Amino acid sequence: MATTDFHSHSHLQAPGQELSQTQGQTLIPYSGFRFGFNLGLALLTWFLLFIGAMVTSTNSGLSVPDWPTTFGHNMFLYPLSKMTGGIFYEHGHRLFASLIGFLVTVNAVFVLRFDSRKWLRRVGYLTFFVVVAQGILGGITVRLKLPVEVSSSHAALAELFFGLTAFMAAACSRAWIHHENKSGFNFSSKLFRMASILSAIVFTQIVVGAIMRHSFAGLAIPTFPKAFNGWIPPFWNFGLVFNFTHTRVLPLLITAFAVTVIMHSFKQNQTDMARRWAWVLCFLLPIQIMLGVSVIWLFKAPVPTSFHLFFGAATFITCLQIAWWAGREDGVVSGSTSRHPPKQSEVALGLSSTVIKGSTT
Ligand code: HEM
Repeated sequence: MATTDFHSHSHLQAPGQELSQTQGQTLIPYSGFRFGFNLGLALLTWFLLFIGAMVTSTNSGLSVPDWPTTFGHNMFLYPLSKMTGGIFYEHGHRLFASLIGFLVTVNAVFVLRFDSRKWLRRVGYLTFFVVVAQGILGGITVRLKLPVEVSSSHAALAELFFGLTAFMAAACSRAWIHHENKSGFNFSSKLFRMASILSAIVFTQIVVGAIMRHSFAGLAIPTFPKAFNGWIPPFWNFGLVFNFTHTRVLPLLITAFAVTVIMHSFKQNQTDMARRWAWVLCFLLPIQIMLGVSVIWLFKAPVPTSFHLFFGAATFITCLQIAWWAGREDGVVSGSTSRHPPKQSEVALGLSSTVIKGSTT
Protein backbone atom coordinates (compact mmCIF):
# COMPACT_ATOMS: atom_id res chain seq x y z
CA MET A 1 0.00 0.00 0.00
CA ALA A 2 1.83 3.02 -1.24
CA THR A 3 1.13 6.44 0.11
CA THR A 4 2.36 9.86 -0.80
CA ASP A 5 5.15 9.49 1.75
CA PHE A 6 6.88 6.86 -0.24
CA HIS A 7 8.64 9.07 -2.75
CA SER A 8 11.46 9.75 -0.32
CA HIS A 9 12.36 6.03 -0.38
CA SER A 10 11.33 5.12 -3.89
CA HIS A 11 14.90 4.56 -5.10
CA LEU A 12 15.07 1.58 -2.76
CA GLN A 13 12.11 -0.26 -4.25
CA ALA A 14 13.00 -3.15 -6.52
CA PRO A 15 10.48 -4.54 -9.06
CA GLY A 16 7.88 -6.85 -7.51
CA GLN A 17 8.30 -5.48 -4.02
CA GLU A 18 5.33 -4.87 -1.77
CA LEU A 19 5.27 -1.89 0.52
CA SER A 20 4.35 -1.83 4.15
CA GLN A 21 3.36 1.25 6.04
CA THR A 22 4.50 1.59 9.60
CA GLN A 23 4.32 4.13 12.34
CA GLY A 24 6.05 7.34 11.36
CA GLN A 25 4.78 6.90 7.79
CA THR A 26 7.93 5.11 6.72
CA LEU A 27 7.53 2.46 4.05
CA ILE A 28 9.49 -0.77 4.09
CA PRO A 29 9.49 -2.77 0.86
CA TYR A 30 8.92 -6.52 1.15
CA SER A 31 10.77 -8.53 -1.44
CA GLY A 32 10.08 -12.25 -1.84
CA PHE A 33 13.42 -12.62 -3.57
CA ARG A 34 15.36 -11.02 -0.72
CA PHE A 35 13.53 -13.13 1.85
CA GLY A 36 14.14 -16.30 -0.20
CA PHE A 37 17.82 -15.45 -0.60
CA ASN A 38 18.27 -14.85 3.13
CA LEU A 39 16.31 -17.94 4.08
CA GLY A 40 18.38 -20.02 1.64
CA LEU A 41 21.56 -18.56 3.10
CA ALA A 42 20.50 -19.44 6.65
CA LEU A 43 19.59 -23.02 5.63
CA LEU A 44 22.88 -23.48 3.75
CA THR A 45 24.74 -22.17 6.81
CA TRP A 46 22.92 -24.72 8.96
CA PHE A 47 24.06 -27.44 6.54
CA LEU A 48 27.62 -26.04 6.68
CA LEU A 49 27.53 -26.62 10.44
CA PHE A 50 26.69 -30.26 9.78
CA ILE A 51 29.65 -30.62 7.40
CA GLY A 52 31.90 -28.92 9.95
CA ALA A 53 30.64 -31.34 12.60
CA MET A 54 31.47 -34.27 10.32
CA VAL A 55 35.06 -32.97 10.01
CA THR A 56 35.52 -33.28 13.79
CA SER A 57 33.39 -36.44 14.17
CA THR A 58 35.51 -38.29 11.58
CA ASN A 59 38.79 -36.87 12.96
CA SER A 60 39.48 -35.25 9.60
CA GLY A 61 40.58 -31.86 10.95
CA LEU A 62 44.20 -32.25 9.83
CA SER A 63 43.58 -34.30 6.67
CA VAL A 64 44.55 -31.18 4.73
CA PRO A 65 47.53 -29.88 6.72
CA ASP A 66 48.01 -26.53 4.96
CA TRP A 67 45.90 -23.36 4.67
CA PRO A 68 44.89 -21.32 2.65
CA THR A 69 46.33 -23.75 0.07
CA THR A 70 45.26 -27.40 -0.21
CA PHE A 71 48.36 -29.62 -0.50
CA GLY A 72 50.07 -26.66 -2.15
CA HIS A 73 47.27 -26.15 -4.73
CA ASN A 74 44.98 -23.15 -5.00
CA MET A 75 42.05 -24.56 -2.99
CA PHE A 76 39.58 -23.99 -5.83
CA LEU A 77 41.75 -25.91 -8.30
CA TYR A 78 42.38 -28.98 -6.14
CA PRO A 79 41.27 -32.04 -8.20
CA LEU A 80 37.90 -33.42 -7.06
CA SER A 81 39.15 -36.96 -7.79
CA LYS A 82 41.62 -36.62 -4.90
CA MET A 83 38.89 -35.71 -2.40
CA THR A 84 38.74 -39.06 -0.64
CA GLY A 85 38.62 -40.13 3.03
CA GLY A 86 39.17 -37.31 5.51
CA ILE A 87 40.12 -34.91 2.68
CA PHE A 88 36.54 -35.20 1.43
CA TYR A 89 35.19 -33.72 4.69
CA GLU A 90 37.96 -31.19 5.37
CA HIS A 91 38.34 -29.85 1.83
CA GLY A 92 34.58 -30.11 1.20
CA HIS A 93 34.02 -28.00 4.34
CA ARG A 94 36.42 -25.34 3.03
CA LEU A 95 34.77 -25.22 -0.40
CA PHE A 96 31.24 -25.04 1.01
CA ALA A 97 32.33 -22.35 3.49
CA SER A 98 33.76 -20.33 0.57
CA LEU A 99 30.39 -20.52 -1.18
CA ILE A 100 28.70 -19.21 1.98
CA GLY A 101 31.28 -16.41 2.21
CA PHE A 102 30.51 -15.42 -1.37
CA LEU A 103 26.73 -15.45 -0.77
CA VAL A 104 27.11 -13.37 2.40
CA THR A 105 29.08 -10.78 0.42
CA VAL A 106 26.40 -10.63 -2.28
CA ASN A 107 23.75 -10.34 0.41
CA ALA A 108 25.56 -7.48 2.17
CA VAL A 109 25.59 -5.59 -1.14
CA PHE A 110 21.86 -6.33 -1.67
CA VAL A 111 20.95 -5.12 1.80
CA LEU A 112 23.05 -2.00 1.36
CA ARG A 113 21.41 -1.26 -1.98
CA PHE A 114 17.76 -2.13 -1.32
CA ASP A 115 16.99 -2.11 2.41
CA SER A 116 16.09 1.17 4.01
CA ARG A 117 16.56 -0.12 7.56
CA LYS A 118 19.81 1.24 8.89
CA TRP A 119 20.01 -1.35 11.68
CA LEU A 120 19.55 -4.21 9.21
CA ARG A 121 22.29 -2.85 6.99
CA ARG A 122 24.56 -2.91 10.05
CA VAL A 123 23.65 -6.54 10.67
CA GLY A 124 24.48 -7.22 7.01
CA TYR A 125 27.97 -5.71 7.45
CA LEU A 126 28.46 -7.59 10.71
CA THR A 127 27.54 -10.89 9.03
CA PHE A 128 30.17 -10.19 6.39
CA PHE A 129 32.91 -9.47 8.96
CA VAL A 130 31.96 -12.51 11.04
CA VAL A 131 32.18 -14.85 8.04
CA VAL A 132 35.65 -13.50 7.22
CA ALA A 133 36.76 -13.91 10.87
CA GLN A 134 35.29 -17.41 10.91
CA GLY A 135 37.28 -18.42 7.83
CA ILE A 136 40.50 -17.03 9.31
CA LEU A 137 39.86 -18.83 12.65
CA GLY A 138 39.34 -22.07 10.72
CA GLY A 139 42.65 -21.53 8.93
CA ILE A 140 44.50 -20.67 12.16
CA THR A 141 43.22 -23.77 13.94
CA VAL A 142 44.53 -25.96 11.09
CA ARG A 143 47.92 -24.23 11.07
CA LEU A 144 48.26 -24.51 14.87
CA LYS A 145 47.13 -28.17 14.75
CA LEU A 146 43.70 -27.78 16.37
CA PRO A 147 44.35 -26.21 19.80
CA VAL A 148 41.29 -26.46 22.04
CA GLU A 149 40.88 -22.68 22.41
CA VAL A 150 40.95 -21.91 18.68
CA SER A 151 38.84 -24.90 17.58
CA SER A 152 36.24 -24.13 20.27
CA SER A 153 36.17 -20.44 19.25
CA HIS A 154 35.66 -21.53 15.63
CA ALA A 155 32.75 -23.74 16.77
CA ALA A 156 31.20 -20.98 18.91
CA LEU A 157 31.52 -18.27 16.26
CA ALA A 158 29.92 -20.64 13.74
CA GLU A 159 26.78 -20.71 15.89
CA LEU A 160 26.72 -16.92 16.25
CA PHE A 161 27.16 -16.58 12.50
CA PHE A 162 24.24 -18.96 11.95
CA GLY A 163 22.25 -16.77 14.37
CA LEU A 164 23.02 -13.68 12.28
CA THR A 165 21.89 -15.32 9.02
CA ALA A 166 18.69 -16.56 10.71
CA PHE A 167 18.05 -13.07 12.05
CA MET A 168 18.47 -11.53 8.59
CA ALA A 169 16.01 -14.07 7.18
CA ALA A 170 13.46 -13.31 9.93
CA ALA A 171 13.81 -9.56 9.44
CA CYS A 172 13.24 -9.89 5.68
CA SER A 173 10.13 -12.05 6.08
CA ARG A 174 6.66 -10.77 5.22
CA ALA A 175 5.45 -11.47 8.78
CA TRP A 176 8.20 -9.24 10.21
CA ILE A 177 7.64 -6.40 7.77
CA HIS A 178 3.82 -6.43 7.72
CA HIS A 179 3.30 -7.41 11.33
CA GLU A 180 0.40 -5.96 13.21
CA ASN A 181 -0.30 -6.19 16.88
CA LYS A 182 -3.70 -7.82 16.62
CA SER A 183 -4.29 -8.28 20.34
CA GLY A 184 -4.09 -4.63 21.22
CA PHE A 185 -2.16 -5.61 24.36
CA ASN A 186 1.53 -5.95 24.70
CA PHE A 187 2.96 -8.10 27.47
CA SER A 188 5.77 -9.49 25.34
CA SER A 189 8.77 -7.80 26.83
CA LYS A 190 8.91 -10.33 29.64
CA LEU A 191 8.99 -13.13 27.08
CA PHE A 192 11.70 -11.30 25.16
CA ARG A 193 13.89 -11.19 28.27
CA MET A 194 13.16 -14.78 29.28
CA ALA A 195 13.84 -16.17 25.80
CA SER A 196 17.03 -14.10 25.57
CA ILE A 197 18.29 -15.60 28.84
CA LEU A 198 17.36 -19.08 27.61
CA SER A 199 19.30 -18.44 24.38
CA ALA A 200 22.32 -17.35 26.43
CA ILE A 201 22.17 -20.54 28.53
CA VAL A 202 21.85 -22.71 25.40
CA PHE A 203 24.82 -20.87 23.87
CA THR A 204 26.81 -21.57 27.06
CA GLN A 205 25.86 -25.23 26.71
CA ILE A 206 27.15 -25.18 23.11
CA VAL A 207 30.46 -23.59 24.15
CA VAL A 208 30.89 -26.10 27.01
CA GLY A 209 30.10 -28.88 24.48
CA ALA A 210 32.71 -27.50 22.07
CA ILE A 211 35.44 -27.29 24.73
CA MET A 212 34.57 -30.80 25.90
CA ARG A 213 34.62 -32.18 22.35
CA HIS A 214 37.83 -30.49 21.25
CA SER A 215 39.65 -31.58 24.42
CA PHE A 216 38.54 -35.19 23.75
CA ALA A 217 36.42 -35.36 26.91
CA GLY A 218 33.15 -36.37 25.17
CA LEU A 219 33.28 -39.79 26.79
CA ALA A 220 35.05 -38.72 30.01
CA ILE A 221 31.90 -40.04 31.69
CA PRO A 222 31.21 -43.08 29.49
CA THR A 223 27.85 -43.98 31.06
CA PHE A 224 24.41 -42.36 31.14
CA PRO A 225 22.26 -41.72 33.17
CA LYS A 226 24.64 -42.95 35.87
CA ALA A 227 28.11 -41.42 36.02
CA PHE A 228 30.25 -44.56 36.42
CA ASN A 229 28.60 -46.42 39.33
CA GLY A 230 26.77 -43.54 41.00
CA TRP A 231 24.99 -40.30 40.13
CA ILE A 232 28.06 -38.17 40.83
CA PRO A 233 31.55 -39.07 39.50
CA PRO A 234 33.84 -40.51 42.21
CA PHE A 235 36.66 -38.08 41.21
CA TRP A 236 37.01 -34.86 39.24
CA ASN A 237 39.32 -33.42 36.58
CA PHE A 238 39.02 -30.87 33.75
CA GLY A 239 37.27 -33.24 31.35
CA LEU A 240 34.86 -34.59 33.97
CA VAL A 241 33.78 -31.11 35.05
CA PHE A 242 32.97 -30.07 31.46
CA ASN A 243 31.36 -33.41 30.68
CA PHE A 244 29.20 -33.44 33.83
CA THR A 245 28.16 -29.82 33.23
CA HIS A 246 27.23 -30.50 29.59
CA THR A 247 25.49 -33.83 30.02
CA ARG A 248 23.67 -33.24 33.33
CA VAL A 249 23.73 -29.76 34.89
CA LEU A 250 22.96 -27.52 31.90
CA PRO A 251 20.40 -29.87 30.25
CA LEU A 252 18.39 -29.82 33.49
CA LEU A 253 18.63 -26.04 33.73
CA ILE A 254 17.75 -25.61 30.04
CA THR A 255 14.75 -27.95 30.30
CA ALA A 256 13.36 -26.12 33.34
CA PHE A 257 13.87 -22.71 31.73
CA ALA A 258 12.51 -23.85 28.36
CA VAL A 259 9.30 -25.14 29.98
CA THR A 260 8.81 -21.73 31.61
CA VAL A 261 9.41 -19.90 28.30
CA ILE A 262 7.09 -22.26 26.39
CA MET A 263 4.30 -21.87 28.98
CA HIS A 264 4.73 -18.12 28.79
CA SER A 265 4.65 -18.18 24.96
CA PHE A 266 1.32 -20.00 24.99
CA LYS A 267 -0.39 -17.25 26.95
CA GLN A 268 -3.13 -15.67 24.92
CA ASN A 269 -1.53 -12.30 24.49
CA GLN A 270 1.67 -13.55 22.84
CA THR A 271 2.41 -13.13 19.16
CA ASP A 272 1.62 -15.96 16.74
CA MET A 273 5.20 -16.23 15.58
CA ALA A 274 6.65 -16.47 19.12
CA ARG A 275 4.07 -19.18 19.86
CA ARG A 276 4.92 -21.11 16.68
CA TRP A 277 8.61 -21.11 17.55
CA ALA A 278 7.71 -22.25 21.08
CA TRP A 279 5.98 -25.26 19.49
CA VAL A 280 9.15 -25.97 17.54
CA LEU A 281 11.11 -25.88 20.81
CA CYS A 282 8.66 -28.38 22.37
CA PHE A 283 9.69 -30.96 19.77
CA LEU A 284 13.29 -29.96 19.27
CA LEU A 285 14.54 -30.00 22.87
CA PRO A 286 13.61 -33.66 23.63
CA ILE A 287 15.11 -34.72 20.27
CA GLN A 288 18.32 -32.83 21.07
CA ILE A 289 18.60 -34.41 24.52
CA MET A 290 17.95 -37.90 23.08
CA LEU A 291 20.63 -37.28 20.44
CA GLY A 292 23.05 -36.23 23.21
CA VAL A 293 22.35 -39.48 25.08
CA SER A 294 22.83 -41.45 21.85
CA VAL A 295 26.29 -39.86 21.43
CA ILE A 296 27.34 -41.58 24.67
CA TRP A 297 25.49 -44.87 24.11
CA LEU A 298 26.84 -45.18 20.53
CA PHE A 299 30.41 -44.23 21.57
CA LYS A 300 30.49 -41.03 19.50
CA ALA A 301 29.44 -42.58 16.19
CA PRO A 302 30.07 -39.78 13.62
CA VAL A 303 26.56 -39.40 12.18
CA PRO A 304 24.49 -39.17 15.43
CA THR A 305 27.23 -36.97 16.95
CA SER A 306 27.07 -34.57 13.99
CA PHE A 307 23.27 -34.56 14.14
CA HIS A 308 23.57 -33.65 17.82
CA LEU A 309 25.56 -30.55 16.84
CA PHE A 310 23.15 -29.84 13.94
CA PHE A 311 20.06 -29.98 16.18
CA GLY A 312 21.93 -28.12 18.94
CA ALA A 313 22.31 -25.21 16.52
CA ALA A 314 18.61 -25.46 15.65
CA THR A 315 17.70 -25.39 19.36
CA PHE A 316 19.79 -22.25 19.82
CA ILE A 317 18.18 -20.51 16.82
CA THR A 318 14.70 -21.54 17.98
CA CYS A 319 15.24 -19.90 21.39
CA LEU A 320 16.53 -16.79 19.62
CA GLN A 321 13.51 -16.75 17.30
CA ILE A 322 11.15 -16.71 20.29
CA ALA A 323 13.10 -13.76 21.67
CA TRP A 324 13.16 -11.93 18.33
CA TRP A 325 9.46 -12.29 17.64
CA ALA A 326 8.54 -11.33 21.19
CA GLY A 327 10.91 -8.38 20.93
CA ARG A 328 9.47 -7.53 17.53
CA GLU A 329 6.06 -7.27 19.09
CA ASP A 330 7.53 -5.08 21.75
CA GLY A 331 9.42 -2.92 19.28
CA VAL A 332 12.78 -3.66 20.93
CA VAL A 333 14.52 -5.61 18.21
CA SER A 334 13.20 -3.57 15.32
CA GLY A 335 14.67 -0.42 16.74
CA SER A 336 11.45 1.28 17.79
CA THR A 337 11.81 3.49 20.79
CA SER A 338 8.22 2.85 21.87
CA ARG A 339 7.78 0.10 24.45
CA HIS A 340 4.20 0.94 25.32
CA PRO A 341 1.02 -0.88 24.27
CA PRO A 342 -0.37 0.59 21.05
CA LYS A 343 -3.22 3.03 21.25
CA GLN A 344 -6.61 1.76 20.12
CA SER A 345 -6.49 4.12 17.15
CA GLU A 346 -3.14 2.63 16.08
CA VAL A 347 -4.49 -0.89 16.35
CA ALA A 348 -7.51 0.06 14.26
CA LEU A 349 -5.22 1.42 11.56
CA GLY A 350 -2.92 -1.60 11.78
CA LEU A 351 -0.15 0.64 13.07
CA SER A 352 1.03 -0.84 16.32
CA SER A 353 3.95 0.21 18.47
CA THR A 354 5.83 -2.61 16.75
CA VAL A 355 7.33 -0.71 13.91
CA ILE A 356 10.30 -0.89 11.67
CA LYS A 357 12.13 2.37 11.63
CA GLY A 358 12.99 2.79 8.01
CA SER A 359 15.64 5.46 8.19
CA THR A 360 17.58 5.75 4.99
CA THR A 361 20.52 7.43 6.64
C1 HEM B 1 19.99 -28.46 25.00
C2 HEM B 1 20.81 -29.44 25.15
C3 HEM B 1 22.10 -29.65 24.40
C4 HEM B 1 22.72 -28.86 23.44
C5 HEM B 1 22.25 -27.53 22.87
C6 HEM B 1 23.94 -29.53 23.07
C7 HEM B 1 24.84 -29.09 22.12
C8 HEM B 1 26.03 -29.71 21.80
C9 HEM B 1 26.95 -29.26 20.78
C10 HEM B 1 26.71 -28.05 19.89
C11 HEM B 1 28.02 -30.09 20.78
C12 HEM B 1 29.23 -30.04 19.87
C13 HEM B 1 30.11 -28.89 20.16
C14 HEM B 1 31.12 -28.69 19.07
O1 HEM B 1 31.83 -29.61 18.67
O2 HEM B 1 31.22 -27.57 18.57
C15 HEM B 1 27.78 -31.10 21.79
C16 HEM B 1 28.66 -32.13 22.09
C17 HEM B 1 28.33 -33.18 22.91
N1 HEM B 1 27.14 -33.36 23.61
FE1 HEM B 1 25.60 -32.05 23.71
N2 HEM B 1 24.04 -30.69 23.80
C18 HEM B 1 22.93 -30.80 24.61
C19 HEM B 1 22.65 -31.83 25.49
C20 HEM B 1 23.40 -32.98 25.64
C21 HEM B 1 23.05 -34.10 26.49
C22 HEM B 1 21.79 -34.21 27.33
C23 HEM B 1 24.07 -35.01 26.35
C24 HEM B 1 24.22 -36.36 26.99
C25 HEM B 1 23.50 -36.83 27.97
C26 HEM B 1 25.05 -34.46 25.45
C27 HEM B 1 26.23 -35.09 25.09
C28 HEM B 1 27.21 -34.56 24.29
C29 HEM B 1 28.49 -35.17 24.05
C30 HEM B 1 28.99 -36.48 24.65
C31 HEM B 1 29.21 -34.32 23.19
C32 HEM B 1 30.65 -34.49 22.68
C33 HEM B 1 30.73 -35.28 21.42
C34 HEM B 1 32.18 -35.50 21.02
O3 HEM B 1 33.06 -35.47 21.87
O4 HEM B 1 32.41 -35.71 19.83
N3 HEM B 1 24.61 -33.23 25.04
N4 HEM B 1 26.55 -30.84 22.38
